[in-house]
Amino acid sequence: MFSIWALILAEALCSSATPFLKGGLHPRQSFPSEFNPDPQSGYDDPTIDIADPSFATAIEAGYQGPFASYDKHELVGPVDLLRNGHVNYGINPNFTLPLYRGLSAANTTYWWIVTDSSDEGNARQLGLNFAPKLRFAAQGQTSDGLKGAEQLEIVNNTVFGRQGMIDFSPVRSIVPGDTSPFPPKSVQPGSQGDSLYTPLVQLTNAGYEVWNAPIIAGNVDEDYLNQFCDGIPDGMLSDFRSKVHDQVLSICPRDEIVTLATIRGFSFSKSVLYLIADGSDPLPATLDGGTYAPRLSAVRTGDDDALFSGIERFFVNTNGYTNRDLPLGAPNNETHHPWRQGLSSAILGEGNPLNILGAIPTVAYDYSPLWDFNLYAWTNYSIENGIRTRLTGEFEVLGMAAAGYVTNPDGTPLSDAGIVNNCPIVHRFLWWH
Ligand SMILES: *[C@@H]1O[C@H](CO)[C@@H](O)[C@H](O)[C@H]1NC(C)=O
Ligand SMILES: *[C@@H]1O[C@H](CO)[C@@H](O)[C@H](O)[C@H]1NC(C)=O
Ligand SMILES: *[C@@H]1O[C@H](CO)[C@@H](O)[C@H](O)[C@H]1NC(C)=O
Ligand SMILES: *[C@@H]1O[C@H](CO)[C@@H](O)[C@H](O)[C@H]1NC(C)=O
Ligand SMILES: *[C@@H]1O[C@H](CO)[C@@H](O)[C@H](O)[C@H]1NC(C)=O
Repeated sequence: MFSIWALILAEALCSSATPFLKGGLHPRQSFPSEFNPDPQSGYDDPTIDIADPSFATAIEAGYQGPFASYDKHELVGPVDLLRNGHVNYGINPNFTLPLYRGLSAANTTYWWIVTDSSDEGNARQLGLNFAPKLRFAAQGQTSDGLKGAEQLEIVNNTVFGRQGMIDFSPVRSIVPGDTSPFPPKSVQPGSQGDSLYTPLVQLTNAGYEVWNAPIIAGNVDEDYLNQFCDGIPDGMLSDFRSKVHDQVLSICPRDEIVTLATIRGFSFSKSVLYLIADGSDPLPATLDGGTYAPRLSAVRTGDDDALFSGIERFFVNTNGYTNRDLPLGAPNNETHHPWRQGLSSAILGEGNPLNILGAIPTVAYDYSPLWDFNLYAWTNYSIENGIRTRLTGEFEVLGMAAAGYVTNPDGTPLSDAGIVNNCPIVHRFLWWH
């Protein structure tokens, strides 16, 4: 139900020069008014994807007016947030955005993207996410005195002299735990940043603005990468993965674009899509296919929204329902547990953990792509008494924690886990439940 319709919307929202100003003339498409569990249909999990307001009404799809979000982005409806590229909708949506070439301080070629800027005007002009907190994230320091950002100059129209680099050669793997999938027995991130690598660059000759500029391919030339303009040819997957970030689906220096996988989650009860670039801890970096970037631990955690805070909170469940908990005989032969969520389910390969993001643009002003992990686990009481469910907003988690139904995984009260993941927001759906 979602994909065809979303494609039309994507056209309207992304390809047009004035995507949000067109008002009432977007015809809605018609859909069969029933769930279709066939994965080939593009309807993957209706509990996340349903987005047809005429469902279960007496009217045809397309009969209603346009979404309110066309007029005001903060109202209900889909909104493209990162607009330097476009979302390709499907069962697993992906995102195509500009690719940049860089020459490192060691004179090696690397490839990078930009997703967020601390400067509002620049963010708006380039279609980036505006993330004011990045200025403070850039100032945090590691125990070695390294700042959260590399301070660099723009020289000859490129960011010059970047020192931090990534080894893309490790092979990502995760071994589930014995008694429950989480915590896993072992994790191996698919790419490893060196001690100097950080996705943040601060431009000392351009207003000191801070960009979120992750490196996504290292020490490979244009000719090699141009083989992957249309995806990864048969037999080349492991070679490809040893040279690029694990979330890259295709990369094309010739056309100056790259396509990355997106991850589904929620923010204030709205379904969202985001990217993963880096993580300060091997576990989340491995789970989501990001780069393990130890220098990101320079960014101070635990001070959500305070003066000087560089982060925004992110809630990650460990022991939610998995599809294995769905009894036989579900309607329409549905195979997804409607409350599926969390790291156990993700480790079992059932899909994204459906993490809960704090603020995103259009919902509040305190968005940062640097997410401060709060890991939460349902207590035995909650599990045994049917209280466990899928949560979709920060304040639901906080309420459950205040009441004692969720805790840290070790049973202590909910708190900051000291982990930062770099996950730029891409798109906000409407969603209700
Ligand atoms: C991106 O997603 C679209 C829609 O699902 C799909 O057709 C396309 O093959 C994907 N691109 C890559 C490079 O995987
Ligand atoms: C940098 O590398 C390029 C091509 O690999 C080479 O032509 C150039 O001389 C190198 N520059 C320095 C300063 O090493
Ligand atoms: C910038 O370009 C000029 C002209 O091509 C060149 O002489 C100079 O070395 C370049 N600077 C750097 C830092 O690459
Ligand atoms: C569910 O699966 C059974 C067995 O494959 C099939 O006979 C039935 O038509 C399916 N029901 C629906 C609603 O798809
Ligand atoms: C919760 O249940 C698990 C599995 O039954 C058990 O191993 C664990 O000790 C229980 N935890 C508490 C705090 O009772």
